[in-house]
Amino acid sequence: MKALGILAGPRKGYTNDKLLDAALEGLKARSAEVEKLSLYGLDIKHCTGCNMCEKTRKCVIDDDHQMVLDKMAASDAIVFASPTYWSNVTGMAKAFFDRSPRFFDITKLGPKRLAEKPSKIILITSCGMPYPLSHLFGMATGCMRAMKVFFGYMAKAKKKCLIASGMVDYQKSEPSKRLLKKAYNLGKNI
Ligand SMILES: Cc1cc2nc3c(=O)[nH]c(=O)nc-3n(C[C@H](O)[C@H](O)[C@H](O)COP(=O)(O)O)c2cc1C
Repeated sequence: MKALGILAGPRKGYTNDKLLDAALEGLKARSAEVEKLSLYGLDIKHCTGCNMCEKTRKCVIDDDHQMVLDKMAASDAIVFASPTYWSNVTGMAKAFFDRSPRFFDITKLGPKRLAEKPSKIILITSCGMPYPLSHLFGMATGCMRAMKVFFGYMAKAKKKCLIASGMVDYQKSEPSKRLLKKAYNLGKNI
């Protein structure tokens, strides 16, 4: 099994990165071949709304975006981690989502997905607001929803989600052992 981890937050070594690593460790424990990318280290420009991808299924802008899509399409499992920014994904994650051409055909019966892979998806976010306010005010849940919509259109995959609320200390931003174990188990058992 091939697994791809994508960090969509700018801070390496902090909450989302650590939870992503833990989930990837869990996947490794079941002999997955694991690769990790950080969107913030890549050249991914913004969508210009030209709509050429409607016809060609490819973006006309030549940068690192297509390389990430190709790796995603070749993966059996994807772990995607974005911190919650303004009740949504990070700007980089949104730029990446916007640039991705339609993963589906519109049929009389509704959207029909084109991709077979990935079959397993793990979505991770963390936010500063503690639980249950993080959920009641739609913060972490807003971010999770954005990721679920994107990946829901991409593939008919088994999805597991992990939310770390109350990560208020930006300097430490250290997920608890319980959360790290949870992320590990998601990777191991998905
Ligand atoms: C630009 C920005 C926007 C944020 N927006 C929210 C928010 O809407 N709700 C929230 O609870 N926390 C918000 N936070 C806090 C982060 O989600 C939180 O600190 C997260 O754990 C950071 O993840 P990281 O340690 O992996 O970078 C925001 C932080 C930044 C920098």
